[in-house]
Amino acid sequence: MGKTKTSHHASHLLLPLLFFSTLVSTSHGGGIAIYWGQNGNEGTLAEACATGKYTHVNIAFLNTFGNSQTPQMNLAGHCNPATNSCTKFSPEIKDCQSKGIKVLLSIGGGVGSYSLSSVEDARNVSSFLWNTFLGGKSSSRPLGDAVLDGIDFDIELGSTQNYDHLARFLKAYSKRVYLSAAPQCPIPDRFLGTALDTALFDFVWVQFYNNPPCQYANGNISNLVSSWNRWTSTVPAGKFFLGLPAAPAAAGSGFVPADVLTSQILPVIKKSPKYGGVMLWSRFYDVQNGYSSSIVGSV
Ligand SMILES: *[C@@H]1O[C@H](CO)[C@@H](O)[C@H](O)[C@H]1NC(C)=O
Ligand SMILES: *[C@@H]1O[C@H](CO)[C@@H](O)[C@H](O)[C@H]1NC(C)=O
Repeated sequence: MGKTKTSHHASHLLLPLLFFSTLVSTSHGGGIAIYWGQNGNEGTLAEACATGKYTHVNIAFLNTFGNSQTPQMNLAGHCNPATNSCTKFSPEIKDCQSKGIKVLLSIGGGVGSYSLSSVEDARNVSSFLWNTFLGGKSSSRPLGDAVLDGIDFDIELGSTQNYDHLARFLKAYSKRVYLSAAPQCPIPDRFLGTALDTALFDFVWVQFYNNPPCQYANGNISNLVSSWNRWTSTVPAGKFFLGLPAAPAAAGSGFVPADVLTSQILPVIKKSPKYGGVMLWSRFYDVQNGYSSSIVGSV
């Protein structure tokens, strides 16, 4: 009797829920990840999150670390970590998170001084990241007491070594530390290939730009699609995002017009069960070009 009653109630509760989640999953199969932090004229973090366009925000960059250097964050004109003015973003980070947006710290970038000289160095950097930006404690937290959701590896220069160890040390603190990476589309990525092989990465936003062999060019989607298929079928990671410039000026090459993306590319790559969405470089260019607005209904 109790059982019948329970299942009766359950079906009433479940039906609207199932209906609702079906609607949500068909209209939003994937998300949009955005890089924020490298242009003081791109607006605040809170403004980015308030658009409702993004599911993941990478704060860019911590671009000095490792090799016994004092780690340094660079957020362009937004604030100055040296005078502690970046702590103003702490409530904004929490506000983004309260909207369900994951906020990660991106380490590396195209300009900087970083490398991991040894396993011990990787361990030290992992403990710095945990204590300074994640669930640990430190008297010096440049983004204040907000606890970020994870660390994004955008390693593009310096030594290729020990990033696999950094990933293992970070994930060992807590399974809830998300790890993401932004490799270039040629496989394997010179800097991140070994780290990705750990299978510890939750999100991989592959840069399908500035890489002619595997990007969109002159109306031809074939190199991009075959590279996407190789990534999603051979690299062990949670979800893959198609990394694109948000405007032609955002990269040297590889810009995909929004209508080509929504009508030709997304319908093909969304067939992969590993599809997670689209990553855009960057918030600044997205503000200029309105790219995310043009694609958000199709991701
Ligand atoms: C790692 O940290 C320890 C403790 O702070 C320090 O003694 C050691 O020199 C550091 N190693 C590297 C490679 O930076
Ligand atoms: C697109 O590019 C592929 C690979 O480079 C090539 O084989 C194919 O012929 C191209 N398709 C068109 C329509 O140009």
